[in-house]
Amino acid sequence: MMDKVIIFDTTLRDGEQAAGGTLNVQEKLEIARQLEQLGVDIIEAGTPITSPGDLEAVSLIAKEVRAPIICGLAHADPGAVDRAWEAVKEARHPRIHVFLSSSDIHLVHQLKKSRQEILEMACNMVSRAKQYLDDVEFSPMDASRSEPQYIYQILKAVIDAGATTVNIPDTVGYAMPDEFGDLIEGIFKNVPNIDRAVVSVHCHNDLGMAVANSLESVRKGARQIECTINGIGERAGNASLEEIVMALRIRQDFYNLTTNIDTTQIYRTSRLVSELTGFPVQPNKAVVGANAFRHESGIHQDGVIKMPITYEIMDPKTVGIPSSTLVLGKVSGRHAFRERLAELGYSLAEEELNRAFNAFKELADKKRDVTDKDIESLVAEGHRTVSEIYHLDRVQVTCGDRGIPTAAIRLITPDGEVMADAALGTGPVDAVYRAINRLVAVPNELTEFTVKSVTEGIDAIGEVLIRIESDGITYTGRGADTDIIVASAKAYTNALNRLLAAKKARQA
Ligand code: KIV
Ligand code: ZN
Repeated sequence: MMDKVIIFDTTLRDGEQAAGGTLNVQEKLEIARQLEQLGVDIIEAGTPITSPGDLEAVSLIAKEVRAPIICGLAHADPGAVDRAWEAVKEARHPRIHVFLSSSDIHLVHQLKKSRQEILEMACNMVSRAKQYLDDVEFSPMDASRSEPQYIYQILKAVIDAGATTVNIPDTVGYAMPDEFGDLIEGIFKNVPNIDRAVVSVHCHNDLGMAVANSLESVRKGARQIECTINGIGERAGNASLEEIVMALRIRQDFYNLTTNIDTTQIYRTSRLVSELTGFPVQPNKAVVGANAFRHESGIHQDGVIKMPITYEIMDPKTVGIPSSTLVLGKVSGRHAFRERLAELGYSLAEEELNRAFNAFKELADKKRDVTDKDIESLVAEGHRTVSEIYHLDRVQVTCGDRGIPTAAIRLITPDGEVMADAALGTGPVDAVYRAINRLVAVPNELTEFTVKSVTEGIDAIGEVLIRIESDGITYTGRGADTDIIVASAKAYTNALNRLLAAKKARQA
C-alpha cells in the first residue's frame, strides 16, 4: 500500500491574503465547490475573526461543501478560536487551526513575549479548541527561523494538549530544501509523542522554493501539504497545489506516494481561481500555464508528433486541458454548444445556459470560429453578471484623433431604475470611466489596467483586467467583449460592484 499525502488547500485563506485578491462570499463558495470536485482533503476556508464577511463565507462553505474537512484559522486568542468554531460547527468534518509565532525574531520584535509565555498560550488555545471538537491543528509560525529545540518543545506540548495535526510553516519562504527537510527529520526524531499527530508543512515562495521544500518534507515523513491553486498567497505566494500533485503523480517511482486529487479537474480549478481572483496565470507556469504543453522548436514538434513522450512528461488530458481542436460557429446549435460546455467541465443551470448560448450566438455573428477559450470567456462573463449591483446596459463612445473622446453610459440599478450620463475624457476609456463615475459616485483610484486577447486573430475577444483602490483596499474587475472599450466598461462596472458589495458586507 502506498502512503497518502493529505492535500490541505488554503486558496481561500492564504491565497485570498494575496494583495488585491479579495473574493466575495459567493465566489468563495463557488471555488470551494470546485475544490471539492478536485478532491482536496481539507479546505481552509478563511479566518473567521477577521471580518463578518469571512465568518459568513466559512459558515456557508461549512454547510454546503460536505466531503472535505472545512477548516477555520484562528490566531492564539480566545475570541478568535471561539469565532472559528462558530464558523465551522455545521461542517460534516470541522477543523480549527490555531497559529502562534515561535521564532525569537517574532517574539522579541512583534509579540514581546517570552518562550515560556508563548508555550502556555499555544497549549491554552489548543485546549480551548479541543473543548469544541476533536480535529485541531497547531502551527508554530515562522518555524523555519525558530530554534529547532524550541519547536520540538512546543510540538510536544501542543500534542499533549490535543493537537492532532502539527503544521510547520516556512512563513517567510526562507528555508532551503535540505535545511527544511532536516527540520522535519529532526521533529520525527526529537518529539517523543509525534506519532500521535500528522506532520504538515506550509511553505511560502519568496525564494521560489515552496514546492521543493514541500516535496522534500514528504520524503522526510510529512503527510500533509498546505498549498494553493496557482500558488497564490501572501507576497510571492504559497506552494502550488497543481505542481505538488503532478510531481507526486508523475514521479511516483521516486516518491512512492499518492493523493486523493482528481487531476483532470486541475485545469478547470486553475481557470476558475484565476478568473475570480483576477490573478492571471503566467504563460510559463508549470502544469497550468498557456505554454506548458506548447512546443515551439521544430525538433521538439517533430518528436511530439512521432511520440508525445519524447518531449512531454505528462499528457495534457491528465490535468484536464481540453484536447479538442473542434471549433463551433454560426451554424452550431444549442445541442452542440451544450456538449462542448460539458466537455469543458461546465454544467450550467438552464437560465445560465440560455444566457451563455445567446452570448455565443452573438459572438458567432462577429467571429468565424468560436474556440474553447472563447467559450470559457463567455461563461466567465455570464458569471460576473449574476451578483451584480449595477448592470451595464449601454456604452456609446466617439473618439479619434480629431474629436474629443466622449462616452455615454446607461446603467440599471438593482431596483430596475435606468440611469444615464455622459462625460468627456482624454481617451475613450477615460471618458467611459468618468461617465460611470458620474452615475456611481464611489471615490476610487485606478491602479492597474491590462487588456489581452483571448485567442489569436483580429476578431478575438478582448479581456480587460483592472484593479481599483478605495480606502486602502484593492478590488479587481474583469470584462470581456470583442470591443475592448465595452470590455473596459464591463471591467470597471464589475470592480465597482465588488467594491460596493464588500462595503455592504462590512457594514452588515
Ligand atoms: O505562513 C504562515 O505561517 C501561515 C500560518 C497561519 C500557518 O499562513
Ligand atoms: Zn502562510
